[in-house]
Amino acid sequence: MSPEDLKALVRTVPDFPARGIQFRDITTLIAHGQGLAATMDHLVAYASKADVAAIAGIEARGFIFGAAIAARMGLGFIPLRKAGKLPVPSIGIDYDLEYGKARIELDPGAVDEGGRVLLVDDLLATGGTAKAGAALLRQAGAVVDHALFVIDLPELGGGNLLRENGIEVSALMQFA
Ligand code: PRP
Ligand code: HPA
Repeated sequence: MSPEDLKALVRTVPDFPARGIQFRDITTLIAHGQGLAATMDHLVAYASKADVAAIAGIEARGFIFGAAIAARMGLGFIPLRKAGKLPVPSIGIDYDLEYGKARIELDPGAVDEGGRVLLVDDLLATGGTAKAGAALLRQAGAVVDHALFVIDLPELGGGNLLRENGIEVSALMQFA
């Protein structure tokens, strides 16, 4: 299936989680067996070009794609977790979302000093989440210069924000 076919499997929900937001929902994409398999094929093709030693994913939806890419490539997976979940001393960053605030945390022991890491998430909107994820990985010693998404919402400016922070952006599809 082409990225255009896969885009047709993403559901758009108006006014979620707040009035005026057109929520691009991957539930319908990942429920489709062939769609999920093709999505993974495309993501692995992108990831294979990035020359990385590990894949990092952002809780929750970044885990779905990030861990599957890592397993397909025989690489380790680094979870960037929502606040308060890690059982060991961790580092964390607070950040703003399109519709609220959040915090992600990382066990720095999961990162190899100087290791090249690809950051993966389902969707890029303002870029606040991915920027925070890259900053945490870098704080722990990783080299992060590429991020990979299923969906980019370019009007929200995340791609520009990441590029300003030295991160090249790839995405399977865009919604204007
Ligand atoms: C969504 C999405 C990205 C982030 C994108 O996650 O999965 O992680 O927002 O937004 P941004 O580019 O403006 O930062 P959410 O925080 O809703 O968490 P979830 O994956 O746990 O549903
Ligand atoms: N869909 C899913 N997650 C999101 C969105 C969206 O449109 N915007 C910010 N996070």
